[in-house]
Amino acid sequence: MLLTPGPVPVLEEILKAQCKEMITHRCKESSELYYDIVERLLKYFNAKEAYAITGSGALGIETLVLNLCEKDDKVLCFPNGDFGEKLVLTVKVYADADPHSIEAGKGWNLERTKEIIDNSNAKVLAMVYNETSYGIRNHIKEICKYAKSKDMLTILDGISAWPGTEMDMKEFGVDGFAVGSQKAIAAPPGLVLIGLSKDAVERYSGRASVPSYYCDLRRHQKRYKKDNQTPNTPAITLFWALQKAFDILDQKGGPNASVKRHADAAAYTRKRLADMGFGLIAEKGFESNTVTGFVCQSAEQAKTIRSKLLDEHNIRIVGSRSTFKENGLRIAHMGNFDIKNIEAALDTIEEILRES
Ligand SMILES: Cc1ncc(COP(=O)(O)O)c(C=O)c1O
Repeated sequence: MLLTPGPVPVLEEILKAQCKEMITHRCKESSELYYDIVERLLKYFNAKEAYAITGSGALGIETLVLNLCEKDDKVLCFPNGDFGEKLVLTVKVYADADPHSIEAGKGWNLERTKEIIDNSNAKVLAMVYNETSYGIRNHIKEICKYAKSKDMLTILDGISAWPGTEMDMKEFGVDGFAVGSQKAIAAPPGLVLIGLSKDAVERYSGRASVPSYYCDLRRHQKRYKKDNQTPNTPAITLFWALQKAFDILDQKGGPNASVKRHADAAAYTRKRLADMGFGLIAEKGFESNTVTGFVCQSAEQAKTIRSKLLDEHNIRIVGSRSTFKENGLRIAHMGNFDIKNIEAALDTIEEILRES
C-alpha cells in the first residue's frame, strides 16, 4: 500500500489507457489528444496558455523560471522546506534570487510577507504552494494577489498541490503554475502540467532569446498554434494516461470535489495522529491537503513505525526532511486514494504504539 507523496497509486483504468498501438506524434490523432489535454488544463487552471511537457516536476519549474525571469531580475523567494530551497537553487541558475527564511514548520501568509514585498524591488516572486517535505500549505492566494498589485510576476511550484488544493490562476494572481503528473492528479510520473497567465505569455513571447532550447516556451506556443502538437516527441502513452486521469477527475465531480475529498482525508489523518499523541509539523492554519507530516518522540520510534508498517503490513510511508529528517514521518492522502487504506495505516500505527 503506497501512501507516499508521489508517485501515488495509479488506477487500473489509467494504467490500461496507455496500452494501445503506438501512434506518431505528427498525426491528427496526436493533435486531438494534445488539444484535449491543453483545453482541459486551460479550464482547470483558468489560464491563458497551458502545456504538458515531457519531464519531471523540476523541469516544469525550471521552464517557468527561465522563460519568465531575465538574468538581472531580482526574484523574491519564500522557502519553508526542501522544495522551497530547490526552487531558490533553480532561480539562482537563471536570475538573482532573494530568499527569505522562516522557522521550520511555519507557513507563509500575507502578514509575514507583506513588508518584505513592500521593501523589495523584485520583478518576480517564486514560491511553493504545497511544501511536500513538511506538509505545509502556504497562503499563496493572498500573497500572489498582493505581489501582482505591486507589478510582480508570480511563479508557483504547485507540483504536489493540484487538484488536491484549489487553483484559479486569474483569481489568485498566479502567472506561472506547474503540477506533477505523479501527484494529486494520480497519473504515472513523467509529465509536468504548466499554466501561464496573460502577463506571463506577454513576458516570454516578447523575449529575444531564452537560455534553453527544449524548454523555450516560444517553441511550444508556435507548434501548438500550428497544429495542436508539441515541438518535440512527447510521452504519448502518458498523454493517454493523463487524459483518462482527467476523465476520472471530471466523473468524480471535478477539481472542487477533489479538493474537498483531499481536505477531508487530511483533517481525518491529523485528528487520528493528534489523538495518538503525535505533534504535527505544519503550523495550525497551514496544513497541507495532500500530505501530513508528524513528529515522533524519537528517531528510534520513527524508524520502528516506518519499518514495521513496511515489513509486517506492506504499507509504505516516508520520512520527513531537513529539520524533521530524524523524527518526522509523512503520510500522503494524495490522488485517487481509498480512505479505507488511510484508516488501515493509522489503525496499524496505533497497534504498533500499543505493542511498543
Ligand atoms: C513541491 C515539489 N516541488 C518539486 C518537486 C520535484 O518534482 P520531480 O521530482 O517530479 O522533479 C516535488 C517532488 O516531490 C515536490 O513535491
